[in-house]
Amino acid sequence: MQVVILNSEEEIRAYASEHILARVETGALSVLGVATGSSPLPIYEGIEQRWTPAVGSLTAFALDEYVGLQPSHPESYHAVIDREVTQRLKLDPKKVHVPDGTAANVDEVCEHYEDLIKEAGGIDLQILGIGATGHIGFNEPTSSFASRTRIKTLTPQTRRDNARFFNSIEEVPRHCLTQGLGTIMEARELLLVAMGTTKAEAVAQAIEGPLTSMCPGSLLQMHPRATVILDRQAASHLKLVDYYNYVFNNRPTK
Ligand code: F6R
Repeated sequence: MQVVILNSEEEIRAYASEHILARVETGALSVLGVATGSSPLPIYEGIEQRWTPAVGSLTAFALDEYVGLQPSHPESYHAVIDREVTQRLKLDPKKVHVPDGTAANVDEVCEHYEDLIKEAGGIDLQILGIGATGHIGFNEPTSSFASRTRIKTLTPQTRRDNARFFNSIEEVPRHCLTQGLGTIMEARELLLVAMGTTKAEAVAQAIEGPLTSMCPGSLLQMHPRATVILDRQAASHLKLVDYYNYVFNNRPTK
C-alpha cells in the first residue's frame, strides 16, 4: 500500500487527478469506479480542469446508492454522480452506472450490477472514501470480505454523518445498495482519499490496524495496488508518518 500525505486539498486535487489522468492517457484506465460524498470531489474537479477527450470516453460505475430515494432527489447518488461526475467529466450518461435503489427486486438489481461490471471488463481503478466507521462503499463493520453488491443497513453513525447532505437525519435512508468488499477488491487498482481529523482513527485502523471486518477499510492491506491519499489531519493518528513521507520523497522514478 502506498500512503501519500499531502499538505492541502489543493495538493490532493492535483496529485490524485494527475494519477488518474496518467492512467487514462496510457490506455490503462477505461472503466472508473466512482464514489460520492465529500472526499472524492477534489479529484473530479481536478480531472475536470485537466480534461482530455480520453476522459470523456470513460465508463463509470458508482459504488453505492441509497434505497428508496428517487433518482431525481438531489441527494440520491444517481443525482450526485450525474452532477459531480457525468457532467464535470463530460461522460456519456449511457456509460455511467448507478445501482437502482428504487427497484422492487433489489437482489435482481444487485446481480445485474455485478454482471454489468463483468461485461465492461471489470473496474480498472476504484476511487474510495472511508467513513468514520471504517466503511468503504457502504460496507459497514462486520461486512463479509467476500461480499458482492447487495442491500445493507447503514449504521446510526453513518446516518448522522450523512445528515449534513439532507434537511434532517430523518430524511437519511436506512438502507443502501453497495458494491461488496469482494467486488471492490476485484478492481485492478484502488485509490482512497481521506481528509480531516474525523477520519484519522478510521484511517489509522485501516492502514496500520489488524485486518478485520470490524474495519472494512483494513481490507486494502490485501490489495496489490492500493494508494491512500491523506491530508495531515487524516494522517494524524498514523504511527509511521515519517516512513510514509520518506518512501514518497524517495519514490522510484521508473
Ligand atoms: C460514497 C461511499 C462512502 C463514502 C464515505 C466517506 O459513495 O461509498 O464510503 O466514501 O462515507 O464519505 P465522505 O467523503 O463524505 O466523508
